[in-house]
Amino acid sequence: MSKKVVHLAVFASGGGSNARAILEYFRNREDLRVSVIVCNKEGAGVFEVAKAFGVPAVLVKKAELNNEGSMLELLARYEVDGIVLAGFLLLIPSFLVRAFEGKILNIHPALLPRFGGPGMHGMHVHRAVVEAGETESGPSIHLVNERYDEGAVIHQARTPIDKGDTAEAVAKKVLVLEHYWYPRVIERHFINAG
Ligand code: GRF
Repeated sequence: MSKKVVHLAVFASGGGSNARAILEYFRNREDLRVSVIVCNKEGAGVFEVAKAFGVPAVLVKKAELNNEGSMLELLARYEVDGIVLAGFLLLIPSFLVRAFEGKILNIHPALLPRFGGPGMHGMHVHRAVVEAGETESGPSIHLVNERYDEGAVIHQARTPIDKGDTAEAVAKKVLVLEHYWYPRVIERHFINAG
């Protein structure tokens, strides 16, 4: 990327712990800035995170997300170069995939290509992993295309699943890895390799 400051939009639907980890990591940086947080759920925790970091947050419901004119205008207003999904539950429309080709990342809380796809989010994922008797799990960070969790994986991290670990225990272990790796992979993708 030739521009000096990379501007990112973080899209989130929930509590925003990954959004927080990203904002903390890039807090004092001049080369990468989160210029806007986009959330589709009124009252979601991520609005508080945005407030705490002084980052503008915009409520964008499904109909607006799918409205090409208004979405591209919104992202242009915040000079967005790339999009980072952090617990965003809506499918990214194809006009956005085309407009930001190779520049939309997602984090999924399991080792793709297994345990992904429509409906596989949050605790559904960790329960499926435990029920399948897996001995390890971990986040996958991948490029986003028009299908849930199918874009090219660019990073995975692993943690063992111990005998007797509940889905909640696995979720906790995976989340620690998410918070560590997501900002670093974002840095590598948008700055070092940009
Ligand atoms: C994370 O587990 C992430 O992998 C998934 O959604 C969850 C979001 O959690 N895509 P949070 O809102 O960042 O706490």
